[in-house]
Amino acid sequence: MIDFKNKTAIVTGSARGIGKSIALKFGELGAKVVITDMNEEATKATAEEFKSKGITAIPVVCNVTNDAEAVNLIETCNKEFGSVDILVNNAGITKDTLLMRMKKEQWDAVIQVNLTGVFNTTQAAIKYMMKQKSGSIVNMTSIVGIYGNAGQTNYSASKAGVIGFTKSCAMELASRGIRVNAIAPGFIETDMTAAIPENIREGMKNAIYLGRTGKPDDIANAAAFLASDAAGYITGITLEVHGGGFKAGGGH
Ligand code: NAI
Repeated sequence: MIDFKNKTAIVTGSARGIGKSIALKFGELGAKVVITDMNEEATKATAEEFKSKGITAIPVVCNVTNDAEAVNLIETCNKEFGSVDILVNNAGITKDTLLMRMKKEQWDAVIQVNLTGVFNTTQAAIKYMMKQKSGSIVNMTSIVGIYGNAGQTNYSASKAGVIGFTKSCAMELASRGIRVNAIAPGFIETDMTAAIPENIREGMKNAIYLGRTGKPDDIANAAAFLASDAAGYITGITLEVHGGGFKAGGGH
């Protein structure tokens, strides 16, 4: 049984989609959760929604690309809840196009959010975790970071970077009682994937062995496991959660 009572959890990009689902799961398992996103209105609304469900939740607006905001996010969690136990680096964006057509801004924006954002929050969080001599970090990568995908050179490079970052952090932090792992989702039904044309979505679905696309809750379950003491002997791994759909075009 996973029990997050007396634990605090920060989930970036948790105003919607996979992040919201993870934060909800953690809250239901007893964690005090920090709802944080760059969208102020949605961040506050999500925290209110969670509170109405009996979950202890606070909203903190944070654009993960801004290092001062990332520091403030972690400090606020420690100030309000007394510790920084779990960090889920979930915030992410896509700006898909073929490399031939990719603008420098599309490359930079995706690397900034998906990779530099993970650096910003992680560096701020480990200051507290190292003092506590405990902590668990879960980074959201993608099967595209492992297998690649045409039209996503920027995104796949950022997500492959997250895997390398995860492995190196695990090595640096293991002796301080901090575990660092990654999750590589396949095709998950969210606003991010809703934009994909229906014919391409059908092709992706057909590539999935289990015959269905993933739900945010499928990822929340994996995140809860990796963040919990049940995964106490697991660090530096990337857990693929894709229903078997890891062939080219099967993920986002
Ligand atoms: P989404 O687009 O539904 O939600 C992402 C959230 O992150 C939004 O609330 C957005 O406001 C927030 N966000 C974006 N940029 C931010 C920034 N600079 N600072 C703070 N918050 C920011 O996306 P979804 O599908 O829930 O994805 C969540 C994570 O899972 C992302 O890292 C994504 O790359 C990854 N992923 C998603 C897959 C899918 O099929 N949906 C597959 C593989 C990975």
